[in-house]
Amino acid sequence: MDRPEIILAPGPTPIPPEVLLAQGSPLVYHRGPGFGRLMSDVTARLKELYRTERADVLLMTSSGTGGLESAIQNVFSPGDEVLVPLAGYFAERWAKLAEAHGLIVRTVEYEWGRRIVPEDVARALAEHPVKAVLLTQSETSTGVIQPIRELAQVANDAGALVIADVVSSLGAVPFEFDAWGVDVAIGGSQKALSASPGLAFVAISERAWQAQADATLPRFYFDWTVYKRFADLPHPENPWTPAISVMQGLHAALELYFQDGVDTAFARHRMLSLSVKQGVQALGLDLFGEGLQDNWTVTAIRAPEGIDADTITDRIRADFGCVLAPGQGPLKGKVFRIGHFGYFSELDIIRGLAALEMTLERLGHPVKRGAAVGAAEGVFQEAQGS
Ligand SMILES: Cc1ncc(COP(=O)(O)O)c(C=O)c1O
Repeated sequence: MDRPEIILAPGPTPIPPEVLLAQGSPLVYHRGPGFGRLMSDVTARLKELYRTERADVLLMTSSGTGGLESAIQNVFSPGDEVLVPLAGYFAERWAKLAEAHGLIVRTVEYEWGRRIVPEDVARALAEHPVKAVLLTQSETSTGVIQPIRELAQVANDAGALVIADVVSSLGAVPFEFDAWGVDVAIGGSQKALSASPGLAFVAISERAWQAQADATLPRFYFDWTVYKRFADLPHPENPWTPAISVMQGLHAALELYFQDGVDTAFARHRMLSLSVKQGVQALGLDLFGEGLQDNWTVTAIRAPEGIDADTITDRIRADFGCVLAPGQGPLKGKVFRIGHFGYFSELDIIRGLAALEMTLERLGHPVKRGAAVGAAEGVFQEAQGS
């Protein structure tokens, strides 16, 4: 029998029934008061999540990458220079995206799994000023949460714009658009908010709008000016036909998220992260990446000696329908990743760890049965105060 997969990967994350029902409900026509209310509510909630009162937040029908592309197309002209600190797959995607649009990309390079050092970025900017620094808050390929506040500070000091990919971090870990001096930040519906894939959101500062007015790269579908004009209508709209069902689902997802509130979501992500980290360590596995106590979105785990990490992700999926993420780039075969942000409960983690224990045992790794589950239970019981 085909059962639904058990997703323990860093997005798309499991979708709560309320969201499924909302996105399966009859469509609200996308030009008129019903959709206008939906869009206004979603935008207001997202502004709260971005911690911004000053920015415009625009909603686009695309995956997160479309939101990133919109930032490049709207802020830059051919030949503009940007700095990209590289420490993983998604930072590299920024560099590729910028190069594809004819920008000159300067880099500060680190081994994957490292935290970017703000002083290094400050030095690079002092040696060679650029128009913008392109950052990734949650480097999903390594699990590392990068120090965006400090990086934005050094970029601001050097007069560079700060453009941040927060696709896999917005709503999962603290982020402050206004207070940290960020100019553009791009999020996606299918990550910490546990809605379906299909919507990108882009927060835009006044400085970024000024840059947009002078930028000459070609743009059409993602032209922010057009999105803003439609968003400012008495009944807000998208310029093009939007993913209405996904918007209905995202609306329900934000309602759920804010029922408990942002702080509760952060505390849950911290607890789930700790339970996974202590669980896999109890199986004798090593964690990968710097800054583990801050890395609440994804845990990257080194495969035990003699077992390919892809064999673990393949086997756990075949035997238990449990989806973990494989390693990317140079980490392929060496690490596997567990995502623990979004609509996960303690028991979702427990069953994932139980499946991992049995899978490792089947692959010949010596396992004390129940060790990971027991360690995770310890974290949950302590958080509960028992
Ligand atoms: C940090 C980060 N940026 C960008 C993306 C790309 O998002 P999408 O697949 O929605 O285009 C992802 C997806 O995993 C991500 O984790």
